[in-house]
Amino acid sequence: MSSQRRILVTSALPYANGPIHIGHLVEYIQTDMWVRFQKMRGHECWYVCADDAHGTPIMLRAEQEGLTPEALIARVWESHRADFAGFNVGFDNYHSTHSPENKAISAMIYERLRDAGHTTVRSIRQAYDPVKQMFLPDRFIRGKCPRCATPDQYGDSCEHCGATYAPTDLIDAVSALSGVAPELRESEHVFFQLNHFEDMLRGWLERNDLQSGVVNKLQEWFEAGLQDWDISRDAPYFGFEIPGYPGKFFYVWLDAPIGYLASFRNLCDRLNLDFDAFVQPDSTAEMYHFIGKDIMYFHTLFWPAMLHGANLRLPTNVFVHGFLTVDGQKMSKSRGTFITARTYLDHLNPECLRYYFAAKLGPAIDDIDLNLEDFQARVNSDLVGKVVNIGSRCAAFVTRDFAGQLAAEDDEPALIERLKHSADDIAQSFEARDFSRAMREVMLLADLVNQYIDRRKPWVMAKDPAARNDLARVCGTGLRAFRLLMIYLKPVVPALVENAERFLRCGTLNWASLEAPFGGCEIDAFTPLMNRIEKAKVEAMVEASKNSTAPTTVAAPVTPAPAAAPSAESATPTISIDEFAKVDLRIARVVQALPVEGADKLVQLQLDVGELGQRTVFAGIKAAYSPEALTGRMVVMVANLAPRKMRFGLSEGMVLAASHADSGIFLLDADDGAQPGMRAK
Ligand code: 2FM
Ligand code: ZN
Repeated sequence: MSSQRRILVTSALPYANGPIHIGHLVEYIQTDMWVRFQKMRGHECWYVCADDAHGTPIMLRAEQEGLTPEALIARVWESHRADFAGFNVGFDNYHSTHSPENKAISAMIYERLRDAGHTTVRSIRQAYDPVKQMFLPDRFIRGKCPRCATPDQYGDSCEHCGATYAPTDLIDAVSALSGVAPELRESEHVFFQLNHFEDMLRGWLERNDLQSGVVNKLQEWFEAGLQDWDISRDAPYFGFEIPGYPGKFFYVWLDAPIGYLASFRNLCDRLNLDFDAFVQPDSTAEMYHFIGKDIMYFHTLFWPAMLHGANLRLPTNVFVHGFLTVDGQKMSKSRGTFITARTYLDHLNPECLRYYFAAKLGPAIDDIDLNLEDFQARVNSDLVGKVVNIGSRCAAFVTRDFAGQLAAEDDEPALIERLKHSADDIAQSFEARDFSRAMREVMLLADLVNQYIDRRKPWVMAKDPAARNDLARVCGTGLRAFRLLMIYLKPVVPALVENAERFLRCGTLNWASLEAPFGGCEIDAFTPLMNRIEKAKVEAMVEASKNSTAPTTVAAPVTPAPAAAPSAESATPTISIDEFAKVDLRIARVVQALPVEGADKLVQLQLDVGELGQRTVFAGIKAAYSPEALTGRMVVMVANLAPRKMRFGLSEGMVLAASHADSGIFLLDADDGAQPGMRAK
């Protein structure tokens, strides 16, 4: 294997005013798979992200909800974290652009650009709302399209005919905030002189292995000419005030990409890593940004230019992906295909979506389609039917007939060699982000293993005492093959593989484990690693997404975010008594409560659940309860919630609490006489 690389990886920062949905997840899952692969290869790879917390829409949204922007972004941050954790997106750090690190780095970059003569100040005329007393972003001006006269169009483009124009071109324009006609007012703005960097950017384009779609776009932009970029906004604005320029703020898109570095800085400070070694111009570390095709201009022009102008390193590459369609169309609330991360998790296993995206994602900028029927069929046939099935077919005999003892000797060494032979090819596909190619190869290998098992028929051998040794060897071979498939699949379905590691008792699998011997040891009884996707669950998910007044932000009082305790603002679909009966609610006594280092909001609870024994639960209640005050308290817990691996350990359930926005968190408790382990109904 090549020598150890040092790699910094980012995904685009989601805005802090809306929920994560499956469209976003294409990117986070894609990046996460790539990062997991790099880590498995033994490289030093850091995956950072953050909420994109600044700007007018967030400021206005907070105002609408009667909150401070800080309170709004704190709430959304919690819900985003819970959503990403739910999909096993393993950030090394999830920060916010509204952070001291980002403020400091933004100021530093701006000052360097200004001092090197890359900024200029001039007055511009812009729409101003005299009632709200603020300048209006284009999106907050509505009027008739100047081309097709369709009423109620945005200030920058017409949804009906696709025309783009200046807000001043709109007919009968009004402010979307107050309804009055905007005035034109003059104010000073700071501009970043992008054209100073044209030669550098052309050189960057040639030196790097950018996707062809990116190269074409860049060439178009060079031809059109690089324009100055307006990087300031007037107060009132939720963001960072520009140093030396009172009343002026950095435009959200200036400090958003800097948020990548700020999140990494925060991680470096916590883990004592050398931040400068990653960001200085001669850094030997690699830096990659995964983004959607809509924000290419920011990442392939402004961002490299800002970095270069501030004497920092350039991105090694920017990996661009397309959009997600569902059943061939744009996601839509009325069709029930605008599916939030939370709604998906309420109905289906996250690993299924991870696998499906992997099966569809290639290295190009193409859009990908989530066809719900194909999704169900593909996951059931590939993951459950082909892969998991190998484990269950072989492990059952090992448990029943050999007391869990796994034979070390192979029945068909050539099969194992064949599986190992694909390692480099699969690794290359992962490296090149050609996940669909990697998955095709893995499924081909799974087919070979299934054909082998069908040929050797262990179920026939099991009936013949004389074939006992053969049976042991066939099962050994089958499970060794299964373990190799688990290695190849680990970047894609990490939770499934973690369960397999547990039952195989094979330790943590990584790429080097391909060469490690396995066998002559005891394994645990097989428990189903994944169930088939039922059509009814997909339908229920679509139904729940239909016309949902989807809270654009979700309160997340307890970690993991509660499915059983919906927030007052979410649309709550009814459930049947049978569905409710599936929730195992138990009284529990807090035996011990500890703060969690590195997680301001969490408390680690050790719970006595009577007949169920002791459980560890991480609860996001620290804002309301100091750990010391919790010991001895009775609480209500969901005891059959699938355990979730968190950065700090395994959370084996959920404690119920009431909460709404900023009014606090209130644990549910039990009247005197209730005992640990009692069922709550
Ligand atoms: O387009 C978006 O959703 C932005 N919030 C992405 C920001 S990415 C980076 F530059 F911060
Ligand atoms: Zn129009």
